Amino acid sequence: MKNLVEFKHITKRFPGVLALNDINLELKAGEVHVLIGENGAGKSTLMKILSGAYRQDEGELLIDGEAVKRNSPIISSSLGIGMIYQELNLIPELSIVKNIFLGSERKKGIFDDREGMYQEAEKYLQMLHLDIDPNTLVKDLGVGTQQMVEIAKAVSKHSKVLVLDEPTSSLTDSEIRELFSIIRMLKEQGVGMFYISHRLEELYEIGDRVTIMRDGAKVGTYRLDEIRMNEMIEKIAGRKIENLYPRNRIPHGECVLEVKNCSGVGFENVSLKVHAGEIAGLSGLVGAGRTELARAIFGIDGYHSGEILLEGKKVKKNSPREAARAGIGLLPEDRKVQGLALKKNIRENMVVSVLNSLFKNGIVDTKKERTVCGKYVEELQIATPTVEKLAGFLSGGTQQKVVIAKWLMADLKLFIFDEPTRGIDVGAKSEIYRLMDDLVHQGAAVLMISSDLPEVLGMSDRIYVMSQGRITGELDHQEADQKLVLRYAYNQGGQADEER
Ligand SMILES: Nc1ncnc2c1ncn2[C@@H]1O[C@H](COP(=O)(O)OP(=O)(O)OP(=O)(O)O)[C@@H](O)[C@H]1O
Ligand SMILES: [Mg+2]
Repeated sequence: MKNLVEFKHITKRFPGVLALNDINLELKAGEVHVLIGENGAGKSTLMKILSGAYRQDEGELLIDGEAVKRNSPIISSSLGIGMIYQELNLIPELSIVKNIFLGSERKKGIFDDREGMYQEAEKYLQMLHLDIDPNTLVKDLGVGTQQMVEIAKAVSKHSKVLVLDEPTSSLTDSEIRELFSIIRMLKEQGVGMFYISHRLEELYEIGDRVTIMRDGAKVGTYRLDEIRMNEMIEKIAGRKIENLYPRNRIPHGECVLEVKNCSGVGFENVSLKVHAGEIAGLSGLVGAGRTELARAIFGIDGYHSGEILLEGKKVKKNSPREAARAGIGLLPEDRKVQGLALKKNIRENMVVSVLNSLFKNGIVDTKKERTVCGKYVEELQIATPTVEKLAGFLSGGTQQKVVIAKWLMADLKLFIFDEPTRGIDVGAKSEIYRLMDDLVHQGAAVLMISSDLPEVLGMSDRIYVMSQGRITGELDHQEADQKLVLRYAYNQGGQADEER
């Protein structure tokens, strides 16, 4: 079969980093070629060379067998390359239709064919089983739906090659199903796809071949029906990961957080408790109301009835400031927007939560600051030559790690983590889990929202399951398993089998 894309001896350097080191790779028509590797391994950089966003220092890029001498986003798009970037690229203030056709407006004479574009957009949305008006503003959509609109946009361009950089990281299970059926459809039409993901389970479902990258170099390319998951994990990390969920459960201390019959926008009559020394998991399908609940606990959004108690005392004024003062921290789901200052460096981003403790006689103790940051850079294997690097230049997953480090550093009574390991490579995941375990051993309480079932099961002491805004189940870690949690998540009750 012919090669749609060929990378030949591609090398790319950034200050202090060899981002790509002599990469050879090809993409065939109708192939889904998976790229995996740790955060900062070079996956997105390679794709940005294909899209013309970056230019390689050495080596050659061939599209359809022809060497691309000069590349740019416009050139690569005209050569049939479509991209769905890791960072969302839609314009929030514009509608779905406007976003889809931005820069490639359909014309009727000299005027924009508004009706035609509306209908075409509607067609793509229906194809993705999205029941939304194409005139809806993008800012009014959830993260998952925005991602689906990105996908609709890429499909509308009729590209020969499609790059999907972590497309599923914020999709619900049913959205992932839709995406996979689109991918299969495109495959049949001969479209070649590069598919980047940290969710290894899903690769087997749609991938043909996988290329593993580490530190800018290619470890190897394998057919997915010839490599097992364990082997893959070892090759990604370059070492064996003995225990992905290093939990050492201890008896609980006092109740740190109690939510009593709380109702607000997106959740109803919720009651739950989190104790010192405990990780309480909050599971459920995306859209079940978990994030809304977390935002209410942290005081970003209000609640209209019920009460929230912190160490037995009623929280009087509900605001993020008060919450922070009371020792609650929330690691938001949407970290790119809420968690990180892109124009600041790693060190500055990390220490904001602990700045007070770094002051010595009124000035920042820079030595202590560097030691503290260095520790986390090492433990979470943050891929950077220096802590002075601007956060905006880090790889997507490395940015996540910086935000996580910032929260792990803070001295809090209650940590609320919303999807803590989304977009994070498998090696660093186990480090984050270990640090979480440390936190509860030091007496903190953790409420962990996660859509990753193995993670919830592996890490929690107790699991609350939410469905449509309500708590539908509470399970001890010993009784919980994947099936049971899912049954509560779909609100099918715990004993459905016996009852029938
Ligand atoms: N514009 C840039 N300036 C400086 N360094 C950069 C830039 N873009 C990427 N890098 C560096 O190149 C390396 C590879 O980054 P890349 O984004 O390709 O990683 P990745 O494999 O996509 O990781 P992730 O899984 O976290 O998305 C990283 O060390 C990153 O910091
Ligand atoms: Mg990336």
